[in-house]
Amino acid sequence: MRFEGKRVIVTGAASGIGQACVSALLREGARVMALDRAEFESDAQLSGACDVSDAHAVQLSFQRALDAFGGLDVCVANAGVLGSLALLDDLSTEDWLDVLRVNVVGTFHCLQQASICMRKQGGGAIVCTASVAGLRSGAGPIPYSASKAAVINLVQTAAQQLAGTGVRVNAVCPGLVETGMTRMVFEMARARGNEDKIGQLNPLRRAGRPDEIAEAVLFLASDASSYLNGQAIPVDGGLSSSLPVVPGRFM
Ligand SMILES: NC(=O)c1ccc[n+]([C@@H]2O[C@H](COP(=O)([O-])OP(=O)(O)OC[C@H]3O[C@@H](n4cnc5c(N)ncnc54)[C@H](O)[C@@H]3O)[C@@H](O)[C@H]2O)c1
Repeated sequence: MRFEGKRVIVTGAASGIGQACVSALLREGARVMALDRAEFESDAQLSGACDVSDAHAVQLSFQRALDAFGGLDVCVANAGVLGSLALLDDLSTEDWLDVLRVNVVGTFHCLQQASICMRKQGGGAIVCTASVAGLRSGAGPIPYSASKAAVINLVQTAAQQLAGTGVRVNAVCPGLVETGMTRMVFEMARARGNEDKIGQLNPLRRAGRPDEIAEAVLFLASDASSYLNGQAIPVDGGLSSSLPVVPGRFM
């Protein structure tokens, strides 16, 4: 019960990694407000529709959580979209803005509201969901990857700006995980009969599960990581630990 009495907001909570975070937090005793862009069923004490790209909607939701819980200890800014898969020549400005609005500005809105609440209390933990795609290329489309690199920098810069407040800000960088966002990849592989090829580029040779990412999020949100701040932690089976190699060969 690491989160007994802790007050938590999770965004992107209707599906995948966010949903797994809510389940794990509830199991560990947290009081949770679960948010997603449309209404959805949740076991959380509070839930509701909140488009994170809408600053006013985010502010209202955070106020609702503060009114109900009396404070905020943890924010999991997890909502994200994959966006356009178009290649360099075919990307439009709108393709970029669709992704940046949610993944970067939406994460910023949550981080801003969370840090305002937490500063007044003298501390708290903010965990943003970035991606291995934000660490280097090769793991996602162009606007998505750039947006996740921006999330990592947002986390680093915010951690510095919140110096002396007791508010910690970190990111998880998941590798490939089966969720609403990636379901098509998994379904296409299953249809072709080569599901076993998924995740073969990482040393664990499998995709991750949402609950495995949630475990890392909970660690970063808990007092167990009390000296961990401004970091982006890959949770990717080891994918990002190496340059590309042919197994058994070193050159
Ligand atoms: N699945 C992966 O392989 C993977 C890898 C790296 C990072 N991520 C990141 O993990 C996070 C969670 O994604 P997931 O994989 O669980 O996918 P998902 O699609 O299952 O869940 C994302 C949730 O975010 C919600 N959302 C989207 N736009 C929103 C908005 N404007 N306001 C509020 N909610 C919004 C969606 O409705 C959805 O419920 C995302 O930030 C994603 O980029 C996923």
